[in-house]
Amino acid sequence: MSRKRSNQYDLVIIGSGIAGLSFALKVAQAGFRVAIFTKKDKAESNTNYAQGGIAAVTSAGDDLDKHVNDTLEAGDGLCDPKVVEEILRDGPDRIKDLVDLGVAFSSLEDGRPSLGKEGGHSERRVLHVKDVTGKAIEDALLANIAEQGVDLFEHFFAIDLITATKASKLGVKVPGPQDRVLGLYLYDANKEKVVTVGAPVVLLATGGAGQTYLYTTNPSIATGDGVAMASRVGLSAMNLEFIQFHPTTFHSLDNDRFLITEAVRGEGAKLIDVKGYPFLKKHHPLADLAPRDVVARAIDREMKRSGSPFVRLATPDMKVDFPGRFPNVYENCLKRGVNPVETPIPVVPAAHYSCGGIPTKLDCSTGLAGLYACGEVACTGLHGANRLASNSLLEAVVMAHRGAEAVCSFLDARKKEKIQLPVWVDGDVPASDERVVLSHNLDELKRTMWDYVGIVRSTKRLQRAQSRIRNLVREINEYYWNAKVDLSLLEVRNLVCVAELIVRSALRRKESRGLHYTLDYPDLAETAEDTLVRPARR
Ligand code: FAD
Ligand code: SIN
Repeated sequence: MSRKRSNQYDLVIIGSGIAGLSFALKVAQAGFRVAIFTKKDKAESNTNYAQGGIAAVTSAGDDLDKHVNDTLEAGDGLCDPKVVEEILRDGPDRIKDLVDLGVAFSSLEDGRPSLGKEGGHSERRVLHVKDVTGKAIEDALLANIAEQGVDLFEHFFAIDLITATKASKLGVKVPGPQDRVLGLYLYDANKEKVVTVGAPVVLLATGGAGQTYLYTTNPSIATGDGVAMASRVGLSAMNLEFIQFHPTTFHSLDNDRFLITEAVRGEGAKLIDVKGYPFLKKHHPLADLAPRDVVARAIDREMKRSGSPFVRLATPDMKVDFPGRFPNVYENCLKRGVNPVETPIPVVPAAHYSCGGIPTKLDCSTGLAGLYACGEVACTGLHGANRLASNSLLEAVVMAHRGAEAVCSFLDARKKEKIQLPVWVDGDVPASDERVVLSHNLDELKRTMWDYVGIVRSTKRLQRAQSRIRNLVREINEYYWNAKVDLSLLEVRNLVCVAELIVRSALRRKESRGLHYTLDYPDLAETAEDTLVRPARR
């Protein structure tokens, strides 16, 4: 951290993906002092790997009602219709903002945007930059952040929030009756020490939790840190059982599950079984472009039926030049020994997106004063039981705009206070020489989640997962209080916390809806209700 400036900001943002960066830009433009802390290199985020694109109504044949209906349909009765309408309505304006920031979306020869199609969309509406949309957005946002005077700190891991309640417990006098955020503790990975940073507003923009599973499309940063941090200050999590499994990742025997964007199916590629039969048409009228939950379950069933460890994605019916339209997918398939133009790609589903998260209002506020959440970490009500493809980048950028406006008003109205925050005490513990405990527990967690909390669930499997994960939580917490913190310990602590919440949410839901399919309750319940799970007792 800069030694010249104090560790007090107006707004501290955790995470440098689309949500954190977009939010930071808008609040910094209003003249407030903003810092972003991010746990790895600044571009390392789920955002950076997004391929398909960002959904918004931009063509003459499309309209808001169609986008709303597709989102509600995919969400299987659990979306909040008002939220859906509000967020999607803002889409076209936020796309203009991205263009103004320098995102050069792919276009047709006549200058109109090139629009991709993905599962569940009734129209072509996915704006993209070939198949590297996320990287193009991340690069543009980072370039603009550098010009706005935002302090961006890489390799700082947010550990825990400091609230008024917590500070009082540690003997610090905090004026006022209301619990609220005062700042947070961060682990500086380069200096291997914990620092304290103060701010009246903290934004969690920490992304998803794909790393709770053995196989995931998510990079290593996606360890559910924001949900775990919020849970440790007493906030409930919403709809965490709805983990979206992306139907098509390149099959490999190691953990390298490279995504094959759904937009490939949007251009005519088809999933085929061992005999070469395009089996999706047996499962849904939209066949290969059915919503993702349907496609992932159909693949799961097909793999179990045939005994094959993968299905294949065949490209002969595609109308586009594969290497030109999908250069990133093409190169990555070649690297893995498959030329997708000539040979069907072996694919399997993998954990991809967390539809649930910290419940927020439409201004990103949470149940704790001063704490905001935006992006994949949040649960706004847009996605319901299953996110419509390419709606998440859109949600992040729309919500960041709304949240930034709310935070600026909050900061304008607030009374400044100076509170000496309690410092982090490391205790007299040695750096641990028992790393094997952590790696063993991590392996066990990921395998348990994959085997028992996957695409098809049952009460028995979930109960088995719950009992194993509760043991892991106990072991990791004991370890945590008796070792010096470091990155892997902090991540495993969060992963087991979030996994426990996911399993508890899944056990609560006594029906099959959207992404949550359980053999014990195969039908929809009469009424659609959100799941709220309180923090586990410690
Ligand atoms: P992220 O982009 O994941 O950023 C999270 C940030 O928080 C990172 O910088 C991370 O390092 C940081 N962080 C996390 N924890 C901590 C901590 N404790 N301390 C400090 N920093 C922390 N969605 C679409 O709409 N369209 C697509 O085409 C699409 N394709 C995808 C392809 C892939 C391979 C993946 C993985 C996802 C895809 N998604 C897509 C989903 C979408 O990319 C994400 O939902 C979205 O990018 C999330 O943005 P975010 O800003 O919330 O989080
Ligand atoms: C993809 O490109 O298939 C991923 C799109 C998404 O997750 O929204």
